[in-house]
Amino acid sequence: MSPSYKNYSTWSASVRWFHWINVLSVMALIFVGLVMLYKKELGISSLEAKIGLKELHVIIGYIFATNLVIRLLFAFIGPASARFRAFIPGKGFMQSLQSYRASLKAGNPQQFIGHNPLGKLAVTALFTLLIVLAMSGLIRAGTDIYFPPFGSIVASYIAEEGADPDSLMPYQKAGVNPEKMASLKAFKSPIGKIHLYTAYLLMLLIIVHITAVVRAEVKEGDRLISSMFSGKKILTEKPQDE
Ligand code: HEM
Repeated sequence: MSPSYKNYSTWSASVRWFHWINVLSVMALIFVGLVMLYKKELGISSLEAKIGLKELHVIIGYIFATNLVIRLLFAFIGPASARFRAFIPGKGFMQSLQSYRASLKAGNPQQFIGHNPLGKLAVTALFTLLIVLAMSGLIRAGTDIYFPPFGSIVASYIAEEGADPDSLMPYQKAGVNPEKMASLKAFKSPIGKIHLYTAYLLMLLIIVHITAVVRAEVKEGDRLISSMFSGKKILTEKPQDE
């Protein structure tokens, strides 16, 4: 008997807009981040270029962070597919994970309108990393180049008595109190490490995420990739989360 197809509405417009703006901004941030990391090897040595790269990274970072904040707002007040309960593992999760894995092994994967249980784990991990990156990045934007939202607090803290905090320039000693700069360094260095290692973890998880999505598209046939554009899934079986 040939399977019967049924059309389901899945991701809301807010989820789809977030997803694609996030993909573009994260790719751009990774690209500029890696250029910053390997600047010596790429022959970038001037201070202006170093600061210019950071400014570019931070400006893209504002787009990324704003998109993320809006998405998290929708997780509280948005449509069902955008809410936290659509992806954070809740009651009965372990059971649904086992049952989904058993269906994969049996070669007859269960179908879902929203995320399958493995997808829920991946999305929760991705959001956690994105939040850590946004917070550590915004702090480094303040401590490195005195950019908002924390730049003016940082500049006021490290400015020499009588110096105008607004006149401080990134990587210039003029007007800076050396002791306060040393204590700022002790604070910003671990934040930089957290930012960098979280970025590496994110790169790894992006590879896992793309591999899993392509595998689901090919093996489960629920049009997962096109559903992130159209908001519609075409399923051949009764979904587990209907
Ligand atoms: C997905 C999001 C992000 C990724 C993957 C990412 C990636 C990176 C990478 C790979 C570096 C180089 C690390 C280094 O030079 O030690 C970096 C540095 C930096 N990032 Fe991000 N970043 C992200 C978000 C942000 C955001 C939202 C901001 C702020 C608005 C930001 C601000 C910075 C700053 C100021 C630096 C320079 C830190 C330093 O020189 O140690 N980043 N980022």
